[in-house]
Amino acid sequence: MARELDDGGIAYTCEQPLSHFTTMGVGGPAEILVQPSTVDEMVLAIERARDLGLPVKVLGAGSNLLIHDAGVRGVVLHTMRLKSFVFGEDGRIEAGAGAHFPTLVKAAARRGLRGIEGGVGIPGSIGGVLTMNAGAYAFSISPMVEQVIVVSPNQGRITLDRGQIEFRYRSSSFGENLVITHVRLRLASDEPEAIKRDMDEHMRYRKQTQPVGVKSAGCIFKNPDGESAGRLLDRLGLKGFSVGSARISGVHANFIVHDGKARASDVAALIEAVQELVLKKTSITLEQEVMVWH
Ligand code: EPU
Repeated sequence: MARELDDGGIAYTCEQPLSHFTTMGVGGPAEILVQPSTVDEMVLAIERARDLGLPVKVLGAGSNLLIHDAGVRGVVLHTMRLKSFVFGEDGRIEAGAGAHFPTLVKAAARRGLRGIEGGVGIPGSIGGVLTMNAGAYAFSISPMVEQVIVVSPNQGRITLDRGQIEFRYRSSSFGENLVITHVRLRLASDEPEAIKRDMDEHMRYRKQTQPVGVKSAGCIFKNPDGESAGRLLDRLGLKGFSVGSARISGVHANFIVHDGKARASDVAALIEAVQELVLKKTSITLEQEVMVWH
């Protein structure tokens, strides 16, 4: 793989620690970390990995991800260099998969474009936001999506219109096989001041109700039917419950936080302990929302 990447002039590193590429800040290295600067490089890396039978994982902003201490084998494609976005006609935004979502939201607000301001606190890349169908309060990305370009391991580059994409609760039809390279959003027009007011209000509320500025991977568990996992864990008295240096946040019980000293094994053990406890006390099986790589 290294020779192929060298031949293509594509930036990569071997056994690169990944912890600082995630908001949780834990986890081991990637066997091969590729950071394509163009979509062509991305396609080439995916094709070479496929030819060599190497597994490919896509890393965006690493904000909903738990990487185990042993790290990951195969190729990790990091979208961070595909981060540019431009404004087009009629409220359109063309963004590379690695575009930082909060930056995009703020730029759209300044431009007088409404529709994504409710997602201002979601610390992902736009590719990650679509793949996970991330949401917050009433905000959902799907109505804003006009078109997405993806790379499929077998069919190469494909353009998908919104109707060809399925968005489910915290997942989508992109799954693990379709790698997003480009997203076109279409937003509505409004007064920049009005959008900024709403955006600031969303951020203020988020800061009040969720732990901001500490190491975490967002919500750990999916909400079970008709219930907030956070409220459930809170009711069970789990705020502050810890394993090693990983603990359940005192602000929102569906967040696991730490002060920089936790290992992935602490977080994984805490997740398991909480799942067991909840099953025993309520017969509810909590499903993980956070993506786990090992
Ligand atoms: N609550 C508690 N204790 C807690 C946490 C929540 O009593 O520790 C109560 C709240 O007071 C509120 C209710 O539970 O009455 C619901 O809480 P919240 O509004 O925070 O919503 P949530 O269902 O817990 C979901 C998403 C969040 C998203 C918020 C806001 C999931 C798993 N979580 O949380 O998403 O930010 O709504 O829209 O769907 C994420 O995906 O990483 C994430 C954090």
